[in-house]
Amino acid sequence: MFEVLARQPDDPLLALIGLYGADARAGKVDLGVGVYRDETGATPIFRAVKAAERRLVETQPTKAYVGPEGDPVFLDRLWTLTAGEAGRGRETAALQTPGGSGALRIAADLMARTGTRRVWLGLPSWPNHAAILKAAGLEVATYPFFDVPAQMVLFDRMMEALSGAAAGDGVLLHASCHNPTGANLDADQWRAVSELIAARGLLPLVDIAYQGYGRGLDEDAAGLRTLLDIVPEALVAVSCSKSFGLYRERTGAVYATCGDAQTALVVRGHFAGLARVSYSMPPDHGSAVVSTILGDPALAADWKEELEAMRRRIVSIRERLAAGLSRRWQVLTAVAGQEGMFSLLPFEEAGVMKLRAEHAIYMPASGRINIAGLKSAEVDTVVEKFLSL
Ligand SMILES: Cc1ncc(COP(=O)(O)O)c(C=O)c1O
Repeated sequence: MFEVLARQPDDPLLALIGLYGADARAGKVDLGVGVYRDETGATPIFRAVKAAERRLVETQPTKAYVGPEGDPVFLDRLWTLTAGEAGRGRETAALQTPGGSGALRIAADLMARTGTRRVWLGLPSWPNHAAILKAAGLEVATYPFFDVPAQMVLFDRMMEALSGAAAGDGVLLHASCHNPTGANLDADQWRAVSELIAARGLLPLVDIAYQGYGRGLDEDAAGLRTLLDIVPEALVAVSCSKSFGLYRERTGAVYATCGDAQTALVVRGHFAGLARVSYSMPPDHGSAVVSTILGDPALAADWKEELEAMRRRIVSIRERLAAGLSRRWQVLTAVAGQEGMFSLLPFEEAGVMKLRAEHAIYMPASGRINIAGLKSAEVDTVVEKFLSL
């Protein structure tokens, strides 16, 4: 029976990992994979994570199931980190999920259960967004978000498109550190889009996967917090993969802010039910680590310090890259003001292939680069190769 199945297209990013791995040239540069890398090219485990893990090994009393909802203490601490004051006093349903992807899928499933048929997604976006929404049976409508050649957010066109959304439609927004563009809404734009969402009766789904990588922990959640203050109901998908470096531990959560306690109780039941019919119970280890860190002032301080150093490294590479590239492409000065690990360079596919073939510089055909894939010592050489295109 499996013979009826059609072959699935290869994942271009996974294929890129394979090509990079097989390249024997010294000095090859990987700007493709979306993980943080340090000055040595490693994706380190945070000191605070190691310390929390040691503590858990010694003290964790059981490996019995955590229950479909997960650990309420973890959920509470992560929500405080994400929503800050804007989350306090709000009736909220929460679910611990396998990573941010799990959170997005549960959010999409819940949307489908509320009768939402269509979700608006900015272009370009992380490719898995559309895939997850469609897998939940939702229709994807798109709004223009970013002009790649001009390196500019298309805010007016975004607002115009969303003005055509029908009550009950969903809208997916990136909280900060937009993947793949690094471009984000400013404070006034967040306010304006939040007011439009509230006025038109839309349901926002905010994806926050890079908190702390852009301008700082609170700064990267500021737009989301504005939205939470303005809209009556929202879904928030949180990933701990990058902010805590817990990628493979599959750590995240989904939150729904609700109008009243009764609604929150009902949503909680749906969250648990949706978990039950897919993976039943979430993984615990990463969440226990995050909860341990956030519940211990010394560990939390150390985690923040290390995260801030990573953020500064990205900002410094960004600035040098932007200064170099703007010698030829004035528009790329914008790269310095973008946030998080990614930028989407306005390169033709032929240019991307040339960089790969002639200089062993790897990035996907779209021109998305992971700034954290660059070591300081490589920046000048990589700039020269880009300028030679
Ligand atoms: C924009 C965005 N959202 C969500 C995720 C989900 O991450 P994970 O499922 O690994 O927590 C990612 C990961 O790359 C992402 O880039």
